[in-house]
Amino acid sequence: MKIAFFDTKPYDKPSFEKFGGERGVTFKYYETKLNEDTVELAAGFDGVCVFVNDTVNAAVIDRLAELGVKVVALRCAGFNNVDMKYAHGKIHVLRVPAYSPYAVAEHTMALLLTSIRRIHKAYIRTRDFNFSLSGMTGFDLHGKTVGVVGTGRIGRAFIDICRGFGMKVLAYDKFEAPNLADGDKIRYVGLDELFEKSDIISLHCPLTDDTYHLIDENSLGKCKKGVVILNTSRGALVDAEALLAGIKSRKVGAACLDVYEEESDFFFEDKSGHILEDDILARLISMPNVIVTSHQAFLTEEALSNIAETTVGNIVEFFELGECPNELCYRFGNTEDCKSGKCF
Ligand code: NAI
Repeated sequence: MKIAFFDTKPYDKPSFEKFGGERGVTFKYYETKLNEDTVELAAGFDGVCVFVNDTVNAAVIDRLAELGVKVVALRCAGFNNVDMKYAHGKIHVLRVPAYSPYAVAEHTMALLLTSIRRIHKAYIRTRDFNFSLSGMTGFDLHGKTVGVVGTGRIGRAFIDICRGFGMKVLAYDKFEAPNLADGDKIRYVGLDELFEKSDIISLHCPLTDDTYHLIDENSLGKCKKGVVILNTSRGALVDAEALLAGIKSRKVGAACLDVYEEESDFFFEDKSGHILEDDILARLISMPNVIVTSHQAFLTEEALSNIAETTVGNIVEFFELGECPNELCYRFGNTEDCKSGKCF
């Protein structure tokens, strides 16, 4: 099994070499992302392995199919970068549904604590032997209300962490998890109530037509003054322009973003010697109460190892058994995990 691996970073290779070597999958590593300009690099391969900012649109799918590529192996959970409707019947799409929800949930709490306890400021001050505490006042998380949108694997891991801090949880999900609600401690509510009553809002739902710009001028208007917005899910859940306006008007007390709507142009790359063209991102980063990490929440040793092991396992199952439980399928107007693995 020969796989063209796109958007390769140095930290990807060791675990993919290890698990690929053990199971007979060879990878050709390309630094470039997969898109219409680079798809020819997939010629002669059985499959492509892609990440969150590779483009798998209709044109790329058509060309991959013409080249005889059988499978798109996503080495991530989210699949908003794949045109799943168009892919149906043309190419099989496999993903890694879970690799370490703890990695993302813990990073979300790290961002929150860094922001509200001003750790990012303190680190810079003390390195300069500035031991002043002015402007460093934070607030306790204990007793605060966190609104969690999306109570899947990551959302639930984050709720557990928040409960450890003594926070009250208001949860919203399109499909509520059984046995999660717990009296006053964890309560499912409608989105409006979540916006109105939460001190902190954390997004853990996928990016879909329903959730696009979930945080926008309208929803921010319903929020408490000083609300803290956490987004470690997908950039386009937040209308960045509306968020910036909310920060300028002091409606939003702080924002912690691991993802950004236009991140594919910047994130994962060293742009330090360049002029940042995106004025909204530049302005957000310039704010003292905004912390941006560049889609780093997943990046732990455990997650990298799990991602490689599952991706390689998916590829082997697909080619050897003809079906894979982690195949995605677009049917009945919805993308879901494929039940049969044999829908085309
Ligand atoms: P999951 O599939 O376990 O949970 C997603 C939850 O969102 C489900 O409970 C689902 O019912 C809910 N949901 C679906 N549509 C919704 C809607 N319209 N409104 C509210 N909730 C809705 O997924 P998991 O593993 O918890 O991942 C969540 C998201 O985290 C992924 O979609 C991905 O975008 C993001 N992610 C970010 C990473 C990072 O490094 N920053 C790494 C991994 C995932």
